[in-house]
Amino acid sequence: MSDIKVHPVNPEFAAKAHIDNAKYQTMYDQSINDPDAFWGEHGKRLDWFTPFTKVKNTSFDLHNVDIRWFEDGTLNASYNCLDRHLEERGDQTAIIWEGDDPSESEHISYRDLHGRVCRLANALRGQGVKKGDVVTLYMPMIPEAAVAMLACARIGAVHSVVFGGFSPEALANRIDGAESTVVITSDFSLRGGKVVPLKANVDKALTDPAAAKLVKTVVVVQRTGDKLAWDDSRDVWYHDITAAASAECEAEPVLAEDPLFILYTSGSTGKPKGLKHTTGGYLVYAAMTHEYVFDYKPGDIYWCTADVGWVTGHSYIVYGPLANGATTLMFEGVPNYPDSSRFGRVIEKHKVNQFYTAPTAIRALMQQGEDVLGNADLSSLRLLGSVGEPINPEAWEWYNRVVGKDSCPIVDTWWQTETGGIMITPLPGAINTKPGSATRPFFGVLPALVDNEGKELEGAADGNLVIKDSWPGQSRSIWGDHERFSQTYFSTFKGFYTTGDGARRDADGYYWITGRVDDVINVSGHRMGTAEVESALVAHPAVAEAAVVGYPHNLKGQGIYVYVTLQSGFDASDELLKELRTWVRSEIGPIASPDLIQFAPGMPKTRSGKIMRRILRKIAEDDYGALGDTSTLADPTVVDDLIENRLNRK
Ligand code: PRX
Repeated sequence: MSDIKVHPVNPEFAAKAHIDNAKYQTMYDQSINDPDAFWGEHGKRLDWFTPFTKVKNTSFDLHNVDIRWFEDGTLNASYNCLDRHLEERGDQTAIIWEGDDPSESEHISYRDLHGRVCRLANALRGQGVKKGDVVTLYMPMIPEAAVAMLACARIGAVHSVVFGGFSPEALANRIDGAESTVVITSDFSLRGGKVVPLKANVDKALTDPAAAKLVKTVVVVQRTGDKLAWDDSRDVWYHDITAAASAECEAEPVLAEDPLFILYTSGSTGKPKGLKHTTGGYLVYAAMTHEYVFDYKPGDIYWCTADVGWVTGHSYIVYGPLANGATTLMFEGVPNYPDSSRFGRVIEKHKVNQFYTAPTAIRALMQQGEDVLGNADLSSLRLLGSVGEPINPEAWEWYNRVVGKDSCPIVDTWWQTETGGIMITPLPGAINTKPGSATRPFFGVLPALVDNEGKELEGAADGNLVIKDSWPGQSRSIWGDHERFSQTYFSTFKGFYTTGDGARRDADGYYWITGRVDDVINVSGHRMGTAEVESALVAHPAVAEAAVVGYPHNLKGQGIYVYVTLQSGFDASDELLKELRTWVRSEIGPIASPDLIQFAPGMPKTRSGKIMRRILRKIAEDDYGALGDTSTLADPTVVDDLIENRLNRK
């Protein structure tokens, strides 16, 4: 690794940055040695209705996983994101909205946003929503998505945002899992000039008997105004209920540990997990990481290209930036519409200072050549960020040179839905960067590497990435299933939070994330459980058995490689291939669409009948020379057939 180029901190940047190297060291040490004092101080960045007197009260003990921060304080997230800014920056832009169509954009001030949130909060109350109720949001990237999140928070309701690319089936499962009685959606969404029928998807989801029984109201934002089916007993227009509502709504005080939101994510079993995030610790952590990692200063224009359907959108489009009184850009469209210069055009148009995107987007741009951004003026940029998957050094260098013009620090931020906010990252004025490394832990984060037996590894090492103690942004539970939470995250390596990622630590103490060590794959920065895709496939009448693995993909990071064994009576055909692909898209959503489907007469199994995924992974990687020990295979000839018919040939 000695050929890795180190990019030193720019001294001019460091001189103006919130955190330089000396400050990082001092604050980091304090955060680890005395978390109560450290977070007691930094917890004050929020406005509390009742100040907390307790700070950290957490246990990672498998039999008593219990995580509480600031537990006796009361506050309101919407108050912290809106009301407290009104006096000083009521007229400042809170959200810049850039539509799918480049001619559409909007600036929404803090005062205006406050009014919209209060109206919807009152309207939701009018629909019977109470503190603690779960409201499901299935929305495009329009300001109403942020308004709806904050309106829920304002009245103490819990939001569960479901990514607008998920299928009606996936939506129904999430409505059901959260026992949600209200859904907020829009008539259609617009992405890359294409119209997606979101409301019709909700209608389909509500043909599921469990979801239908729960949902009493569907609130519909009018985005395109095209014709749609309507059920008077259930559907209401957003503009009708908000027009009739008052623009004044007191923010409801909630306890720091009251839930703010649920967010579903994939794990190694078939059923997605609804992770529960609470109010106080989450908001402190989201706000603080946003300010320090992006070196956010008042007046900056900050753009995170994620979707609000993912945790990145929650923490770094909505809660972190708005809690800091920032101007956050929300983009409805896609990077290649009307053409691939769009990101450049948006940066130029809105004079973006911090730009935060995913490696998959960077690689897609990179493929188009150096002039992909159409000579857009990018001189406003001061910092670049990356998130969602490991960034390969070539993409890092390209990002640095072509977008950052060699003068913007790059923060490669490692974190997860479970962590609530950024965990391992360079602080731009403090930490020299190495392309491909997420570098050092944020304040209060104590990472470690353990071997498969749970023994902690010292110094330069390769192992399972765990976190040794709690931090305020951490998820507290899986909605309705605390036992599953304990088992998933605290049973593999006792006393530690298990991330599910592998990592290497170099001699400088820098972390290099190597990818998932469990049955989760990362496709274009979207996290997916292989078991989820498998259970969708076996629900198809032609499929007897399915096994799904990831394989290296130039653009997506990982692609989805599927092995299927057909039921007798069904023949492998191109038509069936197409049908299976469409089937998975409709069961889960387009993001789960298989890249390669191989018909397998049989799966490699142990004598006890367990599929040997290690072998399937190697074949999918076209690395079948290194299959390792195959002596436990029940029928070794199966493997020969799989190799002969493999689909990924380098
Ligand atoms: O494998 C890691 C990868 O994404 C996973 C978390 O996915 P999700 O919960 O959907 O959250 C994504 C956005 C925070 C991690 O377990 N991952 C995320 N960021 C990075 C990363 N892998 C390498 N480098 C990163 N910067």
